[in-house]
Amino acid sequence: MIRLDRLLATLALGSRTEVGAMIRRGRVTVDGGAVRDPGKQVPEMAAITLDGAPLDTRLERHVMLHKPAGLLTAARDKKQPTVMELLPPVYAGIGCMPVGRLDKDTTGLLLLTTDGELNHRLLAPGRHVDKVYLAGVDAPLTAREAETFAAGLELGDFTAAPALLEILPGDGRTARVTIHEGKFHQVKRMFEAVGRTVLTLHRERFGPLALDPELEPGQWRELTDEELSALREAVKA
Ligand code: URA
Repeated sequence: MIRLDRLLATLALGSRTEVGAMIRRGRVTVDGGAVRDPGKQVPEMAAITLDGAPLDTRLERHVMLHKPAGLLTAARDKKQPTVMELLPPVYAGIGCMPVGRLDKDTTGLLLLTTDGELNHRLLAPGRHVDKVYLAGVDAPLTAREAETFAAGLELGDFTAAPALLEILPGDGRTARVTIHEGKFHQVKRMFEAVGRTVLTLHRERFGPLALDPELEPGQWRELTDEELSALREAVKA
């Protein structure tokens, strides 16, 4: 059970005071009956309407976002726009948080979830969830760099675990990199360590999930049940 005003405020329909006023005016029904007491305890799964329209009261949601360049991956930031601004406010209200972080200039697959335990597990280095990136670099790559990545790279404060570097056909400046850690700026630092600068970085895959090609940069959708099960399966105890 949850207080009705708290639930509506969590769903980002207004401040506690504002939703309290809505409720007192009789604009809200719960399981078919008008409720005018903001403090009323209601079941979390209750059918609630506002001005006659049913509300989506799901408190658990999981999102796949095609992150565009230029936004911070953070729940909030005082100065700069974040990925949360691409989603309706309800997602921040219910605590739907990015899983890990992509740099401001990195594009591609970003997951967000309200499930803190799932979030934590997806990032835990011991779980070895693969992340696949497409990197564009400033100078051609050779088999030597692929071997260095495969051996595990010394990065000063830590040693990156062996990673797969596949150089794509063409001028040798584009490569697919698979890592299962996620240290700060890890991919950029790995390339830096072999004398290359990353010019573009795009995440194609996170564990079992590939970025939906239907999603343009800035677009998002909720995960399907199958995708969520695949994610849970990938990190099950
Ligand atoms: N590695 C990086 O260097 N940056 C990212 O955004 C993701 C992985």
